[in-house]
Amino acid sequence: MLFKTYLTQRKSYRSYQKHDLDEGNLSQLKYYMEQLNEVYGEEWFSLSFFEDGKQVIKKLKGHAGYHGVMIESPHYVGFSVKKDTYEAYLWGAYALAALEKKAFELDVESCWVSLQDVPNEIRGSITEDPEERTEAVLALGQGKDHLPFRPNETSNRLPLKELVFEDDLDHPFDLEKLSNWGLEDLFYYVRNAPSAYNHQPWRFIIREGKVWLAMKSFDESNEYLDAGIVMFLFEGLASDDNYLGKWKLEPLHEEKGYSFVATYHL
Ligand SMILES: Cc1cc2nc3c(=O)[nH]c(=O)nc-3n(C[C@H](O)[C@H](O)[C@H](O)COP(=O)(O)O)c2cc1C
Repeated sequence: MLFKTYLTQRKSYRSYQKHDLDEGNLSQLKYYMEQLNEVYGEEWFSLSFFEDGKQVIKKLKGHAGYHGVMIESPHYVGFSVKKDTYEAYLWGAYALAALEKKAFELDVESCWVSLQDVPNEIRGSITEDPEERTEAVLALGQGKDHLPFRPNETSNRLPLKELVFEDDLDHPFDLEKLSNWGLEDLFYYVRNAPSAYNHQPWRFIIREGKVWLAMKSFDESNEYLDAGIVMFLFEGLASDDNYLGKWKLEPLHEEKGYSFVATYHL
């Protein structure tokens, strides 16, 4: 599925039907998750499939989610990092964002659930290994208001002039130029990426033939996850338009209080 189609139609689901997904969908999701672990995870992170969502809910209810409001679904995929560095969170989120798109293609609804404020001992109780702390989970299931068609109703998004800049953060990119360069769609659709609290902390600065990803703040795990998700979706949207680039992590630096994280060669 084109990333454009996905980003137009996706949204977070917060209430789910109780029944399990069918075997076919479960096995496709598990297989894809294993591939993500193999291709991207080895050094950085590990994804785990929790088929029995009730076990996860028992542990996380009252702790995970915004203000402890756990999102209850029949299944979850969790992720843990192998190194306590932002890169590990970022690549983990990149992979889990890929799994979320795969779920969408199978007509399975989803929502990220933050474990950022959950005590360590609870985060260590989700998988069998207590050393392995789950950092976030993706709720998966059939949404309560699952419809045979998908209405376009993502929540509010920032206008392009607040997201895309030329050379530095003082100069919003001229939208006519953006469209002449064939880049307007990419930035238009990438805004529909999910982000914790819908903060949309990402900014894109086009400078010397590269796009820089800068984050409004880059101090906690949710913000690292937001960065990884948007990198996956940006790359996919660019590939819809036949760009072949991949994000490259750069040594972190700050400009005007924003953290400059990675570059993408146009
Ligand atoms: C890292 C991350 C953590 C999130 N945690 C939660 C959460 O704990 N509870 C919740 O209801 N939504 C959570 N969300 C979903 C966001 O609130 C949602 O993506 C945002 O409000 C935009 O809405 P949309 O995804 O429907 O476009 C999270 C999203 C991300 C990316």
